[in-house]
Amino acid sequence: MILYIYILEKYDKRINMYSFTYSTSRDKIITYGVDFMFKKLNILDEKDKRLRQISKDATFPLSEKEQKLIEDAVTHLTYSQIEEYEKKYDLRPGMGLAFPQLGINKRIIVIVDEYDEGKFDNYIVINPVIVSNSKEIIAADAGEGCLSVNREVEGHVPRYARVTVEGFDTEGNKIKIRAREELSIAFQHEIDHLNGILFYDRIDKNKPFFSENEIRLI
Ligand code: NI
Repeated sequence: MILYIYILEKYDKRINMYSFTYSTSRDKIITYGVDFMFKKLNILDEKDKRLRQISKDATFPLSEKEQKLIEDAVTHLTYSQIEEYEKKYDLRPGMGLAFPQLGINKRIIVIVDEYDEGKFDNYIVINPVIVSNSKEIIAADAGEGCLSVNREVEGHVPRYARVTVEGFDTEGNKIKIRAREELSIAFQHEIDHLNGILFYDRIDKNKPFFSENEIRLI
């Protein structure tokens, strides 16, 4: 008997991970790496009351559970923005998550921003506070979405065009982030979650849409 082993090694720089596909026969293919590491998150639905609570400040050092959840959130959000993995794991694309969405009412947010094709910046902010904002107001023209809201909600959500956010990194060091445009919207959306606010609370029922003359639509 002859045993053949085929090994295919692939490095995916988008998620900074190697995967190994090996097989001992043509019909038995096993992938290690990506599949092994990935754990789909359990995200609360909008009906869950925990999403309506005011979250408490996180304290340092973060627990192992909190750190693990942050890592899983980064992975989940990154995968959800890469078509190949989005399809493979049946994910809804999203760029941000706040801890209340994961059932933990602590002030922790995670944003994964695709700033260039296949290139991601991760923002993990503990106890974030918006310390200043632009006068200019913008809105995402296509509306906003949320991984806790499993339906389309139409309407413009007015947001500051630019915000400065202060908070702490996972080690407890003070950090300051200046965000603009889409990233600014993401920060405001996630910080709202910490205060029990969902994006559609900010849509004016009497006037859900703005014109270009009223606010800048992006
Ligand atoms: Ni959300």
